[in-house]
Amino acid sequence: MRRKQLATVPAGSGLEPIHGTGDPGVLEVLRFFRDPITMVAKRRASYGDITYINSFGLKFVIPLNADGCEAVAMNREKAFANEPAWGFLIGSFFRRGIMLMDFEEHRYHRRIMQQAFTNTHLKGYLQDMQPMLADRVAHLPVGDNVASNGTADDVRLLDEFKQVTLDLALEIFLGLDLPRAEADRINKAFVDCVGAGLSIIRKNIPGTRWARGLAGRKVLEDFFYEHLPAKRATATPDLFSVLCHAQSDEGHTFTDEDVVNHMIFVLMAAHDTSTITLTTMAYYMARYPQWQEKAREQSRTLPPEISYDTLDEFTVLDRIMKESLRLNAPVPGLPRRAIEDTEICGHYIPKGTYVAAIGLVNHHNPALWSDPERFDPDRFTKERAEDKVHRYAWMPFGGGVHKCIGLYFAQMEIKTIMHNLLLRYEWSVPEDYRWELDNSTLPVPKDRLPVRMRAL
Ligand code: HEM
Repeated sequence: MRRKQLATVPAGSGLEPIHGTGDPGVLEVLRFFRDPITMVAKRRASYGDITYINSFGLKFVIPLNADGCEAVAMNREKAFANEPAWGFLIGSFFRRGIMLMDFEEHRYHRRIMQQAFTNTHLKGYLQDMQPMLADRVAHLPVGDNVASNGTADDVRLLDEFKQVTLDLALEIFLGLDLPRAEADRINKAFVDCVGAGLSIIRKNIPGTRWARGLAGRKVLEDFFYEHLPAKRATATPDLFSVLCHAQSDEGHTFTDEDVVNHMIFVLMAAHDTSTITLTTMAYYMARYPQWQEKAREQSRTLPPEISYDTLDEFTVLDRIMKESLRLNAPVPGLPRRAIEDTEICGHYIPKGTYVAAIGLVNHHNPALWSDPERFDPDRFTKERAEDKVHRYAWMPFGGGVHKCIGLYFAQMEIKTIMHNLLLRYEWSVPEDYRWELDNSTLPVPKDRLPVRMRAL
């Protein structure tokens, strides 16, 4: 590998330079897409605890150890900002979402939004999502007669989970009983926004993903503005209404524009992340049927309907979920941009540099986890507690002031879907099946995880 320095270190600063390969951006990106785990391991062997990669001309500094990831996420010197980094990636479609705000403004908005995620509201969301999710899982495209005549088609679980979580978002987040065609129109607008955020052609050229994303954003804005007066008028238990009425301890509330921007962002933040987690859990439970059975056995001892107080009793599902989030973190990184000259663990970062704390740097690090490529949910038991080796050994929900606000919501949704799935079906993949991930956007299986399902 060629060795190139990111920037000249100011004389007398006592800081170290950061090195990378100096290879063209396209090569670096291809390497990352193809096999990010190997790429990170090789970089660590060549450059130590920090490096930079060239992503289509943008240089991203990547800490390769847990201390470096912590420094980025905690941002103690307030030297890193979210908006100039996330904004570059998804700002055209998710502008003014809370993750794209910084410092005082972010704090102001977060304190109001937090009111929508209190225990009382979470209990309400959980209660409302139960019947809907039970019904959706019951109607997955698996029929006994199809399965028993041996001609059952494989079910693409990624697609199924995607649809279920989108419908859940419409019902629980929006609290609107939309006709199917209208629900599909909104879902499509939303999917177009997500797809566009990560597209390579980033111009409004008709027919491109980017243009569809811009049109989708417009559909979503019009939709939320149309329904907003009714939500303001009456308090209902859905997130949309809760955000309309949320008030921070200081008495601050959201403007109409804030509510619309936050709704569009939260829908996005909640959707693919939960879908990927469910798909990863399903994959490992298909590859390791003993874990599927173990989770099912526990589900059978618990009531079919999950309550907020019984969530913690799903200990097996909990470990499987944590291990799945470790092996395939749905949000690969926390991108930031330095707004002043700064440092990470004694390495010089000039103002304007992009940095990213990448989950898999820690999640697959043999210095932190025993046999990190192995699916081993028991590493999260109290006795082994491998995740406690470092505060950032396990970081699928990020950290610092931007730490995922929906992490409890996500766990409720994921456990409810999995509990219902385990009680109704058994699913499997051929013994030699290994999924291949597409890392070009969020990490999803290229084949959308085809499984054979059998109704119990
Ligand atoms: C397993 C599912 C999920 C994962 C892995 C996940 C992961 C993350 C991560 C890593 C961040 C931090 C990004 C950063 O600092 O740059 C984040 C932020 C966020 N997440 Fe999640 N998320 C999940 C589910 C959800 C759900 C269900 C919701 C909403 C109900 C949600 C709402 C948010 C919001 C609003 C933020 C921005 C917080 C802020 O900037 O203050 N997430 N999420």
